[in-house]
Amino acid sequence: MLSSKQAIHLEDKYGAHNYHPLPVVLDRGKGVFVWDLEGKKYYDFLSAYSAVNQGHSHPRIINALKEQADQLTLTSRAFYNSKLGKYEEFMHKVFGYDKVLPMNSGAEAVETAIKIARKWAYNKKGIREGDAKIIVANGNFHGRTTTIISFSVDPDAKDEFGPYTPGFEVIPYNDINALEKALQDPNVAGFLVEPIQGEAGVFVPDEGYLKEASQLCKQKGVLFIADEVQTGIARTGEMLCCDHEGVRPDMIILGKALSGGVYPVSAVMADDEIMNVIQPGQHGSTFGGNPLACAVAMEAIQVIQDENLAERAKDLGDIFRKEIGRYIKQSNIAKLVRGKGLLNAVVINDSEDSSTAWDICMKLAENGLLAKPTHGNIIRFAPPLVITKEQLLDACEIIKMALREYEPVA
Ligand SMILES: Cc1ncc(COP(=O)(O)O)c(C=O)c1O
Repeated sequence: MLSSKQAIHLEDKYGAHNYHPLPVVLDRGKGVFVWDLEGKKYYDFLSAYSAVNQGHSHPRIINALKEQADQLTLTSRAFYNSKLGKYEEFMHKVFGYDKVLPMNSGAEAVETAIKIARKWAYNKKGIREGDAKIIVANGNFHGRTTTIISFSVDPDAKDEFGPYTPGFEVIPYNDINALEKALQDPNVAGFLVEPIQGEAGVFVPDEGYLKEASQLCKQKGVLFIADEVQTGIARTGEMLCCDHEGVRPDMIILGKALSGGVYPVSAVMADDEIMNVIQPGQHGSTFGGNPLACAVAMEAIQVIQDENLAERAKDLGDIFRKEIGRYIKQSNIAKLVRGKGLLNAVVINDSEDSSTAWDICMKLAENGLLAKPTHGNIIRFAPPLVITKEQLLDACEIIKMALREYEPVA
C-alpha cells in the first residue's frame, strides 16, 4: 500500500509544482471528516475552498452521481439532453433568474460573465466595440486564467504571465466613493465583485456596501456582477451572500458547492435581457451542461435546502466567532476573527512573510484539524456546513489549543 511519504514523492516528481500543500495525504472523506493514508482522522476546515459545503461524499449526491453515470454522462451541446432543461428550470426556481449558462470551473464562469457583460455593453448599452470596461476590486480573486489574472493584484498569480488583457480598472474594495467615481466613465459595462473576499483573507465589507454598490450600478446602467463562487450555496448563512443585504445582482456566478464538491460544475445566471446577447457558437464548453453535472447539481442544491444548511451556517458561524473571539481577547498570537456564517478567518499577529500561520496549521493537522493559511498570516476556517454544534465546539478547542502553543512566553 502507498504511504503518505510515497504519495508526496510522486506528486513532487511527476506533477507541476503549482501548489504548496500541507504535507497530509488524504485518502477518504465522510461528512466533516477526512482520513489520511495512515488512517489518521481530521476535521476538514477548508472544505476544498468551500466546495464541500454539503460534507464529503454526501450519500444523496453520490447516489445521484451514480444513477446518472449509469444512464448518460456526456452528449456535448451538439444535442439536447434529458437533464439540462430540468436543471435549468430548477435553477430558475431556486434563484429566480430567467436563464442559466452552465460551465465547469469557477474561473470559466467568471470568463463567461465577462464576455456576457462586454457583449451586453455593445448590443444594449451602445458602447463602441472594444471600449467596454469592467470595474473590479483590489484584493480580488476570481481564478487564474489569462484574462482574470490580468486584473489580479496578487504578484504570484500575475507576474510574468503577461501580456495582459485590457479593459479592467481596479478600485479599492469596500469603498463606495471609489466606485462612484469609477462609474462616471460611460464605457463601464459592469462591476465584478466578491460579496466577501475569500482568498484575500475573508474580508467582509461594511454592512450596506453591496446594497449601495448595486444601487449605484443600477443608476448608471452598469451590470452588478457578484462572484459567489466561494460565498454562495449557503456558506455565509444565506443561499447567496448578497441575500444578506437583499441585493439581487444582474449576474450571479456560482461554482464549487454547486456540486457539493463531487464534480466540477459552475454557472452564470442572468435575466433574458442580459443572457440573450449570447447566440449559438459564441460561447460554450464540451462538458458544460452535461447530464452528470446537472443531476449532481440539482441534488446538491436540494440537500442544502432539505438540511437547512444556510441556517445552520448562520447559527454555527456565530458560535465559532464567539468562541474564538473570547480566546483572542486574551491572546497575543491571534489578532482577530472575522467572517460571516461558516466562512471565517483568524488573523495571526505576525508579518505576512512569517511562517507562524503555516506552523500553526501544521500543529492543527497534528491535532486532527486541517486548515490552510491564506496570504501569509491569515488562517481561513470553513468547515462543511453539515458540522454539528458539538463537533464545532470540539474543533474550537483544537484551534485554541494550537494557538496556545504559539503564544509568546512572558
Ligand atoms: C471568488 C472566486 N471566484 C472564482 C474562483 C475560481 O474557481 P475555480 O478554482 O473553480 O476556477 C474562486 C476559487 O477559489 C473563488 O474563490
